[in-house]
Amino acid sequence: MIEELIEQALRAREFSYSPYSGYRVGAALMTADGTIYTGCNIENAAYTPTNCAERTAFFKAVSEGQKSFRAIAVAGGPADGPIMQYAYPCGVCRQVMMEFCDPQTFDVIIAKSKKEYRVKKLQELLPDGFGPSNLSD
Ligand code: THU
Repeated sequence: MIEELIEQALRAREFSYSPYSGYRVGAALMTADGTIYTGCNIENAAYTPTNCAERTAFFKAVSEGQKSFRAIAVAGGPADGPIMQYAYPCGVCRQVMMEFCDPQTFDVIIAKSKKEYRVKKLQELLPDGFGPSNLSD
């Protein structure tokens, strides 16, 4: 499951539209039913409309009726050359994960390659996060 998600994240990274930063990111998000939605970062000449790869994947999935997720793989780095560093999700993407995922069970896989990766629970990346339960309980 992990290697398949990383492979799809690396493939999605090929579609990265990042002419301004030259930093290419791909993501692959697995739903509870095993469906995989991919995403890439999509930049903009006005800069702020830029969307991260992770959020692209989430918004594709949610816009098709999915609301239950198991894991996401993320792979990012400069366009030229191999991925040398782990590209951890930005704060905004962590907050979007918090909206739809159980922080105690949702896995975030940060990958350099299919063989080199780290796995973190969302809770580790966003401790004491603010989420839907804060508004309902
Ligand atoms: N980026 C992502 O796609 N995901 C992250 O979690 C961090 C940053 C993108 C946004 C921008 O296109 C480029 O990486 C450089 O910040």
